Amino acid sequence: MNIRPAVEQDRDAIWNIFHEVVAAGDTYAFDPQMSREDALAYWFCEGTHTHVAEQDRHVVGTYILKVNQGGAGSHVANAAFMVALNARGQGIGRGMGEHCLSEARRIGFRAMQFNFVVSTNESALRLWYQLGFKIVGTLPGAFRHPERGYVDVYVMFRSLL
Ligand SMILES: CC(C)(COP(=O)(O)OP(=O)(O)OC[C@H]1O[C@@H](n2cnc3c(N)ncnc32)[C@H](O)[C@@H]1OP(=O)(O)O)[C@@H](O)C(=O)NCCC(=O)NCCS
Repeated sequence: MNIRPAVEQDRDAIWNIFHEVVAAGDTYAFDPQMSREDALAYWFCEGTHTHVAEQDRHVVGTYILKVNQGGAGSHVANAAFMVALNARGQGIGRGMGEHCLSEARRIGFRAMQFNFVVSTNESALRLWYQLGFKIVGTLPGAFRHPERGYVDVYVMFRSLL
């Protein structure tokens, strides 16, 4: 697996993964009907560090790293991760998570926060625990899961010092 900064030519592959994840509607609070234009504008927003993971020169995953808050909160990073459905369970997510933590340290962030980890997202939760994140808060019923209805959402945090 090779992880590198995303370039213009990655936009189609990123959109395919983004659309697949968001259309499923069970992990992110994005509109499942979100347009390609809006999705890519968000994923490539100014100040966002956008990366892709490749396997055999095919993009199989993508992540973004950015500030969680502006101004006096800008020493805390935020990140989001997506792996193509047919590439899951092969270490791509873990590889991107580790890469993201080291990028965040390199940039000078002091901590990383995930604002919206859906409590039913077992694979993500396990991975974030393994990467040293802890649940620091629970948002009761904050996500409307397509099958399970209103489920809790976790805020997760880890220091980078
Ligand atoms: C969460 C996600 C990024 C994980 O990526 P992945 O490439 O499948 O994960 P990996 O193969 O690197 O597995 C890493 C760890 O995740 C956990 N994991 C992965 N798949 C799992 C599954 N089906 N069930 C339970 N845990 C799982 C395990 O802890 C695994 O480590 P282990 O194999 O040593 O136990 C991926 O499933 C995804 O893109 N999901 C949709 C979007 C999403 O939920 N993003 C995160 C939002 S908070």
